[in-house]
This record gives sequence, C-alpha cells and structure tokens, in this order.
Amino acid sequence: MPDTLTKLAYQTFQQSKQAFGYTHKTLINRLREVVAPGSSNTNTVAIPPETLALLKQRLDALVETDWEEAEAGTYPTSLLFDNPWDDFFKYYPMVVLDTPSVWERSANKEYQKFSQGIDTTEYPSYYIQNFHHQTDGYLSEMSANLYDLQVELLFNGSADAMRRRILAPLKHHIDGLSVSTAKILDVACGTGRTLKMIRDTLPKTSLHGVDLSPTYLRKANELLTKEPGTLPQLIQTNAEKLPYLDNYFEATVSVFLFHELPGEVRQTVIDECYRVTQPGGIFIICDSIQQVDNPEFTPMMENFPTVFHEPYYRHYSTDDMQARLETAGFHNIEISNHFMSKYWVAKKA
Ligand SMILES: C[S@@+](CC[C@H](N)C(=O)[O-])C[C@H]1O[C@@H](n2cnc3c(N)ncnc32)[C@H](O)[C@@H]1O
Repeated sequence: MPDTLTKLAYQTFQQSKQAFGYTHKTLINRLREVVAPGSSNTNTVAIPPETLALLKQRLDALVETDWEEAEAGTYPTSLLFDNPWDDFFKYYPMVVLDTPSVWERSANKEYQKFSQGIDTTEYPSYYIQNFHHQTDGYLSEMSANLYDLQVELLFNGSADAMRRRILAPLKHHIDGLSVSTAKILDVACGTGRTLKMIRDTLPKTSLHGVDLSPTYLRKANELLTKEPGTLPQLIQTNAEKLPYLDNYFEATVSVFLFHELPGEVRQTVIDECYRVTQPGGIFIICDSIQQVDNPEFTPMMENFPTVFHEPYYRHYSTDDMQARLETAGFHNIEISNHFMSKYWVAKKA
C-alpha cells in the first residue's frame, strides 16, 4: 500500500478507537446515573475545555510520531494495526457486564476484594489491590482477559502507541552493539504486548519477561505463541528480586509499572534493574506523565487515583524518578513525554 494510503488507514483506525473509547465511557457514565444514581465519585475536579483541547492535540501528536517512526523503519507498519480483535469482540460484553460490580466496589470503597478461591497469600501486601477497580485485581483469568481492552478504553485506543515509544531508543541501542543475540528484559510484562512489539522490531534478540501475576503471564504466553517468532522466556517473580545474574541484559525495559508501586518499592525495583543490566546497557521506563511535566494536567492527575483506584499514583506523580535512577547508579538520563506518558532512558556506566 502506498505510504499516504497506509497513513490514512492508520489515522482512521486510531480515530475509530478514540471514538469507541469516548462513546463507551459516555454510555457507561449515563448508565451509571440511571442504574446506580449517586454512586459516582463526586470528589473530582472539573477539567477545563482548554485542557481537553490540549489533550486532544497531544493525542494527535502521539499518532503522528507513531506513524513517522514506523515510516522511518524503526518498526514494521503492520505493528500500527496490531490489535487483539478476537479478544476485543469476545470480551467487550464481559467488560460491560462486569461494570456494575466495579461501581459497587468503588461506592463501598472496597479496594482489596478478591473472589473466593484466589490465593493472595504469596504476594506483597501492596499488590493485593483491585487496581483500576479491576475484579480480582491482577489475579484471575478474567482480569487478564479483560485488561488490554480496559486499558484501550481508558486511553481511547492509544495504549500501544504509548508503549511503542520505547522502541526507537531500544532499537538504536541494540543496533549499535556488536553482539549477535542481545538479551532484553521486560519487567512487569503483563499480557505481553510490549514483548510482542519488541520481537517484531528486533527479531534477533533473546527476550525475557517477568510479572507477579500468573494469569497475566499465561495470557502473555497465549499472545506470544499465536504468531511465529522466538518465544520469550516468562518467569513469575517479584521485580524486587529478579532471578538473573548481575550485568546479564543488554537492555531492560518497564512499561506502566512504577505508578503502581509504593515509593520505597520503586527504588528497590530500579536498583534491581540496574543490577541485572550490563555496564553500557540501558534501562527504559514508560509510565504516566508527572505533575512537573504538565501542571495544566494536574486536575486530571488528581482525579485519576480517585476514579480508578490507583493507591500509589499520587506519590508517583510528584516522585523524583531521575533522582531514583541516579541513586541506583544510572546516568545520561534522557526524559521525554508523549500524550499522557513519560519516558526515561538511562544508561549504566
Ligand atoms: C499496569 S500493569 C502494566 C502491564 C504491562 N507492562 C502493560 O504495558 O500493560 C502493571 C503490571 O505490573 C505487575 N506488577 C506489579 N507489581 C509487581 C512486582 N512487584 N513485580 C512484578 N510485577 C509486578 C502487575 O502484575 C501488572 O501486570
């Protein structure tokens, strides 16, 4: 397909996902007013129209950057259209059917409620949470099946475009090495979307992923075995104590993890990422923007943990991550923002 057509197709694809996300949220909110009046969280700050306009501009800029990097050959353009359609059609009705129980838990301030039969004893206490009010937190098959769709609805279809912003610095680093098979670790790999993108971008690398959730790892395995390509090694473990030798990986990445950790755990995980990364290697973080980046988004950053139950987000939003990376020993830290996300590319001396 000629480039202009592919670009148009990508823009249309993104606009449809945005429209779907907006429509879903509007309908769900209206339904809530009818079915469970008074259950909405009223402690939220109104977002001024100019902030919403700025947000839209940043979303458009993200889509443009995503296109430009694909067009420049950083990753295949097919990645731009990569979407788990089967899952989306299959699980959308369940996202809707699960919504009343989310309202109920949220109205009753039940943040650590798990179904009978889910064993929560093996996990750190900070993890035993219904993050985003998800039924069973990160610990059920259903949660793993619904997660990607829920994140796409939350970010109006831009979650993968935000994840892809780690690919350019990662590829740049790996292409500059003389090793035949570089090793890359994804810390808190979740359902495996980032690992899949890295495999499509850097097919000769050896990929590894860790996560605390056994059900999310099973989902990642399902995604990564669907298409040909070397299978990443997936290990269920706590990122605070990574089961790898010192200086093992040419690159370590982590996407959307740090806002879900308490401050001191954030530092422990960064220290671990430093330990397992080779001297000369890089560590790339993708997570939410922080208050220092866009003070005009502060009302949204204040609403987010209230509406979505993100118990460590408020602390994260003002945390000095650069200082944490430097404390671990990283240097040459490059920071950037895209839409609602922030990136740190840090080097180990
Ligand atoms: C918001 S999700 C992000 C998942 C994935 N990286 C993505 O881009 O969708 C956070 C993930 O971090 C994992 N997680 C949280 N705390 C962890 C820890 N201490 N060690 C390992 N994984 C952890 C959760 O199980 C979950 O899969």
